[in-house]
Amino acid sequence: MAVLLTGGTGKTSVRIARFLQDAKIPFLLASRRGEAAAPSGMPATKFDWLDDSTFEKPLQHKFPGGEGIYAVYLVAPEVADPAAPMNAFVDYAIKEHGVNRFVLIGVWQHFVDIGVEYCVLRPTWFMENFLEEAHRFTIKGEGKIYTACGDGKIPFVSATDIAAVAFRALTDEKPYNTDYRVLGPELLTYDEIAAKLSSCLGREVVHVKLTDEQRTQRFMSYGLPEHYANFLTSLEVSAASGVEDRMNDAVERVTGRPSQKFDVFAQQHKTAWQ
Ligand SMILES: NC(=O)c1ccc[n+]([C@@H]2O[C@H](COP(=O)([O-])OP(=O)(O)OC[C@H]3O[C@@H](n4cnc5c(N)ncnc54)[C@H](OP(=O)(O)O)[C@@H]3O)[C@@H](O)[C@H]2O)c1
Repeated sequence: MAVLLTGGTGKTSVRIARFLQDAKIPFLLASRRGEAAAPSGMPATKFDWLDDSTFEKPLQHKFPGGEGIYAVYLVAPEVADPAAPMNAFVDYAIKEHGVNRFVLIGVWQHFVDIGVEYCVLRPTWFMENFLEEAHRFTIKGEGKIYTACGDGKIPFVSATDIAAVAFRALTDEKPYNTDYRVLGPELLTYDEIAAKLSSCLGREVVHVKLTDEQRTQRFMSYGLPEHYANFLTSLEVSAASGVEDRMNDAVERVTGRPSQKFDVFAQQHKTAWQ
């Protein structure tokens, strides 16, 4: 039995792949860039949500042990209506290739409607945003983090913890057939994140609180289109108003161990900001 990981070059899929490797469960990474961008030594193939001629190849992949794909991890494309291509792929994978389990980030009624095994993950904001997005460069270069999050509290979670929950949902014998909010272990404001980074790096990092307008302009200055800059700003403004202010123990309940604290994450990755 093998697992197909879409979003195969992304933050969560690569980490799920490491759990599968350790458990000796065969897997295939799938994304537009395929092997060209996959970590070395990991099997990968080209797949594009927006081109249904690419749907067949990953599902027919020949694994060395002859295994077939029984579960798929779904990472949605960033388009206005991701449900349309995703529903088409899921229906095709079930009907033509006998896939019976799906795990994804997001909310999706389709699974309930078609009665397939599923688990929906609803993670809060990733700690990896500080490594892989613009924050990394402003922390490193200016000692600053720019947001419109104000004093909003966020239970930042590591992509490794999200991957650990996804791994269990993909591979446990019993299907979960539910949704989980996947949260980190502490509620932190960006001021508190800046203080933790200052102490970890031994130099001052400050949180610069921007207005909505200033934040949108900043996103656009990175080359993002206006509609996407507005969307990202709206997420931060919502966080400022407290929508992320919640805690739970879902990571520990599913994986048997507590989620990773930001201080530990920062220590592990401090070279990224030096
Ligand atoms: N960052 C956060 O704080 C946060 C919080 C909550 C939820 N989320 C959501 O979490 C999900 C998982 O994200 P992630 O961080 O693991 O992924 P990611 O690092 O954002 O990477 C996205 C992946 O999707 C692939 N991709 C993009 N367009 C594609 C297309 N048209 N067809 C096929 N593949 C495509 C990309 O590879 P190629 O370029 O090679 O195609 C890449 O592997 C996303 O839906 C994100 O919105 C993120």
